[in-house]
Amino acid sequence: MFDRLEHNPATIDAAAFHKTNDLCFPAEPVGRVEFEQYRSVDHWIAYNNDEMIGFAVLSHNSHSAHIRRIGVIPSMRRRGIGNRFMTLMLERAKSMGVEYVDLLVQSDNRGAIALYEAFGFTEVDQSVQFVTTLPTSGRSECTGVPVADLPTELARSLPRAAINLASHHDPPRAHVLAFIADGAVAGYARFAPDFPGCSPFVLVDQAVDVHDILSSIGEFALLGKTRLKITTDDPRTISLLAAAGVEQNYALSRMERRG
Ligand SMILES: CC(C)(COP(=O)(O)OP(=O)(O)OC[C@H]1O[C@@H](n2cnc3c(N)ncnc32)[C@H](O)[C@@H]1OP(=O)(O)O)[C@@H](O)C(=O)NCCC(=O)NCCS
Repeated sequence: MFDRLEHNPATIDAAAFHKTNDLCFPAEPVGRVEFEQYRSVDHWIAYNNDEMIGFAVLSHNSHSAHIRRIGVIPSMRRRGIGNRFMTLMLERAKSMGVEYVDLLVQSDNRGAIALYEAFGFTEVDQSVQFVTTLPTSGRSECTGVPVADLPTELARSLPRAAINLASHHDPPRAHVLAFIADGAVAGYARFAPDFPGCSPFVLVDQAVDVHDILSSIGEFALLGKTRLKITTDDPRTISLLAAAGVEQNYALSRMERRG
């Protein structure tokens, strides 16, 4: 299956790495900065007849390890190489004494999920990215208000998560918006006008029309930006957006294995 497997090799042929990555992840090229990040954490590279056929990347902090990437080129799959990478990463995580190992996987990637489940990973949460066109005009029953401008009594009614969010000015230029309908908070989001995207995006009042809320975001978008990406891991918000017919871009599962 492979004749050589290297752990943190002193040098990596960057062109071979990118070629392997592009075969494994056609839609997810690795940039120069990310490549250097991978080289600064634990990584394993498999070769067959001197051809790079797969790799795995594991980062960690004091209490958890994170599987950043694992890929095997299509022609070498189902021969146990992914299994070997997983075993090596979990042994390494165990030697570091972390409490858990986690990873993100597209929720429709059945092959990878089967592999992770075989190693004891279970889904702990899911986040979904929706895409929609920002309405440029039209009446809305809902108003978007930057949290900093909210009257005190409304600010008090915001969930603690929204207030904590407002204390993080990240990414720069992001607004934290509260959606006000019928004098009450119907939801909140951090909105970055450059992309433009909302993350997190949470609906707290199920009765308010989702499209009214989306209309209220339009005025905060930069001129010419029309596509809005909404990323949320709140289960109720996910079902409300789906029920309102907002198009889903992708769903990501976070999987975790304790110990
Ligand atoms: C996921 C991936 C790394 C698995 O590598 P692999 O070398 O084929 O995995 P293995 O041969 O070791 O498979 C181990 C087990 O995982 C499960 N598995 C792996 N691929 C599977 C598939 N396509 N469908 C169902 N089960 C699968 C099986 O249980 C398999 O055991 P089996 O072959 O005895 O049935 C590989 O398919 C890949 O690179 N995919 C594209 C990149 C990717 O999606 N990476 C994960 C991103 S989060």
